[in-house]
Amino acid sequence: MVEKPDVGELAPPNRTLMGPGPSDVHPRVLRAMSTPLVGHLDPSFIDIMNEVQELLRYTFRTDNQWTIPVSGTGSASMEAAVGNLVEPGDTMLVPTNGYFGDRMASMAERAGGEVVTVDAPWGEPLDPVAVETAFDEHSPDVFGFVHAETSTGVLQPSVPELTSIAHENDALVVADTVTSLGGVEFRADEWDVDVAYSGPQKCLSCPPGASPLTLNDDAMDKVLSRETQPRSWYLDLSLLEGYWGDERAYHHTAPITNVYALREALRLVAEEGIEERWARHRSVASALKAGVEAMGLEMNAPEEYWLPSLNTVRVPDGVDDGAVIEYLLEEYDLEIASGLGALAGDIWRIGCMGHSARAKNVSYLMTALGDALTEQGAGVDVEAGLAATSDAL
Ligand SMILES: Cc1ncc(COP(=O)(O)O)c(C=O)c1O
Repeated sequence: MVEKPDVGELAPPNRTLMGPGPSDVHPRVLRAMSTPLVGHLDPSFIDIMNEVQELLRYTFRTDNQWTIPVSGTGSASMEAAVGNLVEPGDTMLVPTNGYFGDRMASMAERAGGEVVTVDAPWGEPLDPVAVETAFDEHSPDVFGFVHAETSTGVLQPSVPELTSIAHENDALVVADTVTSLGGVEFRADEWDVDVAYSGPQKCLSCPPGASPLTLNDDAMDKVLSRETQPRSWYLDLSLLEGYWGDERAYHHTAPITNVYALREALRLVAEEGIEERWARHRSVASALKAGVEAMGLEMNAPEEYWLPSLNTVRVPDGVDDGAVIEYLLEEYDLEIASGLGALAGDIWRIGCMGHSARAKNVSYLMTALGDALTEQGAGVDVEAGLAATSDAL
């Protein structure tokens, strides 16, 4: 006999989310999520779909007709991009300078592609010279890179240089903008990026569930002229075209509430203005960076590649990174994260994204971090850190 479970009412703790995502959700987005459902083919929902597409184009800085939210988390929009673009027999060039290049590789392999790599150490961006050499050596059909690497806190500079190398070699470019879209400068059209995907739970401050994707006509031509069907039915863009294109015919039931949420999150982007939003992320994260540096801590990414939305801070000698994370969660209801992969144990990852990229959050974080480090006996100058943050803000 299976007993009747005795489960109480849902009462999650009220955290301040300053990790690698999700970020704090804007109250307007939470309100949008509690509005009544309509059907996924209701004429009113068709209007909402159009609005979401228009707002996504604004946020990606693109005129691409093919701009949609993919049902699922960032990995779903990533797999929609890679799985539709890569066919058996194709070669995809992926980076090795972080955790998410490996995920791209794994998806390309599952799509039947051959994977080749362009190398850079974890914590550094790709060098255009290395990308050019990899093109000469492997002639890939598709080139993927991570614009904002969440595992290392590194921003990939020189994007137009990378895309022009790829296009001179007749390859299509896929950009991972999961940790940059809506928080860090990204211009799909001006930078000639063919495909970009993202997630809603980072700089857009929206719960995960419907993930931005944009493809230009060259990319969509390749998708629509594939010799073989993509291996995923659910993420087959030629089928999704029926729902998100002119026809608006059923493919799968859209996650209505997540689409409402994304619409409100993107409306907030448009109200603030995309460039103003990039500037806000930069200035608030600068205050965080100034504070941790004045405390005597070191950022993992050098200034030129520093990613404002995800700040990686080196754990000082003798300090237990996990104990600090636990202390912040228990004493301050504040979430930050440890390092991933090659940087596990070496860094903390502190997000400064969307609704969490506010002066209030950064001041709170600095006070809490100062306390946690003092508790650990770390020789840091908390006063200097707080003063530097406060001056910068
Ligand atoms: C750069 C990057 N790409 C892809 C993903 C995958 O997104 P998700 O976890 O929403 O599936 C993440 C998630 O953190 C990410 O940071």
